[in-house]
Amino acid sequence: MTTCITICDTCKRAGWEEGDMARTDGEALAELIEAAAEGTGVGTRRVSCLMGCKRACNVAVQAPEKLAYALGGFEPTREAAEAIVAYAVAHAESGTGQVPFRAWPEAVKGHFVARLPPLEGES
Ligand code: FES
Repeated sequence: MTTCITICDTCKRAGWEEGDMARTDGEALAELIEAAAEGTGVGTRRVSCLMGCKRACNVAVQAPEKLAYALGGFEPTREAAEAIVAYAVAHAESGTGQVPFRAWPEAVKGHFVARLPPLEGES
């Protein structure tokens, strides 16, 4: 199974209420990520709340038997979406999920919140 980007589609950044509120910041970022991920082999899915609300917008990068990462503090921009997808592609290409720092897209630096080791043993 390939790497999947889990995107919180209920995230709202500070000041969201001052816009037209037609959609959340998370929905806007999700649309951009889904478009950027097309044809890359990386999967996407939306969830409502990753419990990082104060650091909106939030995503997670996961794959079975690999290190998983939570990232936050993104603005819903094309630059952020493309960087998240590029990082997820590198995660997919890595045997362990660990992407060397030199390969990190610039726009994901400073956005890592947590790294979770894969579960081991029988379930
Ligand atoms: S609403 Fe996005 S993490 Fe809670």
